[in-house]
Amino acid sequence: MFDELTAPSEDALLALIGLHRDDPRNTKIDLGVGMYRDDNGQTAIMQAVKEAEKRIWDTQKSKAYIGPEGDPAFLDLLAKEVLGADWNQTSVIGLQTPGGSGALRLAAELLAYQGPRTVWIGTPTWPNHNGIFSAAGLTVRTHPYFDATTQSIRVEEMLSALSGASSGDVVLLHASCHNPTGAALALEDWNAIAKVMAGRGLIPLLDSAYQGFGRGIYEDRMGLHILLKACPEALIAVSCSKSFGLYRERTGAIYASSNSGNVLPKVRGALASLARVNYSMPPAHGAEIVRTILADGDLRASWYAELETMRLRIVEIRQALAGALSQQVPTMAAIASQEGMFSLLPLAGDTVMSIRHRHAIYMPESGRINIAGLRLDQVGRLASVLVPHLH
Ligand SMILES: Cc1ncc(COP(=O)(O)O)c(C=O)c1O
Repeated sequence: MFDELTAPSEDALLALIGLHRDDPRNTKIDLGVGMYRDDNGQTAIMQAVKEAEKRIWDTQKSKAYIGPEGDPAFLDLLAKEVLGADWNQTSVIGLQTPGGSGALRLAAELLAYQGPRTVWIGTPTWPNHNGIFSAAGLTVRTHPYFDATTQSIRVEEMLSALSGASSGDVVLLHASCHNPTGAALALEDWNAIAKVMAGRGLIPLLDSAYQGFGRGIYEDRMGLHILLKACPEALIAVSCSKSFGLYRERTGAIYASSNSGNVLPKVRGALASLARVNYSMPPAHGAEIVRTILADGDLRASWYAELETMRLRIVEIRQALAGALSQQVPTMAAIASQEGMFSLLPLAGDTVMSIRHRHAIYMPESGRINIAGLRLDQVGRLASVLVPHLH
């Protein structure tokens, strides 16, 4: 049976890590995989995380099973960050998951649980959205989101596509820091989307993977709030990978909100049983770190300050790159007002490959760049390589 297996195509983004690692040129620049990097090109462990790990090492007494739902204290504390002070008023339940991907997969399985269902995703989006939703048995439909040539969001086309969606369809929305475009919906856009969705009975699935990387931890949840207030039911998939730098610890959560709170125990039960037959229960370590940080005023302040430093580094590089490119390609000024780690350049796949071969600058064929992979002193060289291809 192994012999007959059709090998799936390799994940292009993960393959890029190896290609960059094996390139001997010391001028190489990695704008590929989506991890934050500091000025030294390191994905360092946050200080609050290190301190929390010390405390856990000192005090942890058992590695006993934690159950499919995970740690309620972690879920409560994380909900306060993601959903804000309002969260007590909304009826919400949560389950700890293996990262944001685990949360999205569990959400998708819940949505597919009682028969066929359609989920709408924007184009472009994080490629794994399509993979996860299709693998769970959902029908995936797309709506326009972004035009890389003009660097603008296609809001009207998006609204018109969603106006044709059927009641009970699900709409995947990036809570902030859109991957791969960085293009942020204005509050009036969020309101317009919420109006269409509430009017047509569409269910939001909010993907919150970069809170704190955009405009700030509070600002980055404003769109999500608008949707939660407008729509009677919603799912929120949270990743702690980026905001806490816990990538490999696989830390996240899925929350369900409903304005009729008495249905929520059923939702929790369904999610727990779907988790049980899949990975059984989530990994504990990352969630313990997050709980330890968020439960302690000093650690939370340290985490928040470091996250803010990371955000401001991204903003600084965005401004420098936008400045360098827009002198000759005015549309690229938009890079400064985009948010989070990514921007999407209007480059053809063969141009990306030729830039990789000739200049050792690594990005996926889509033209997505990880702004955090850049240092300020590399911006000029990158701009001079890119400008001839951006006209
Ligand atoms: C938009 C988006 N959602 C979810 C995730 C999932 O993150 P993880 O599974 O690493 O927590 C990512 C990771 O890159 C992402 O970009």
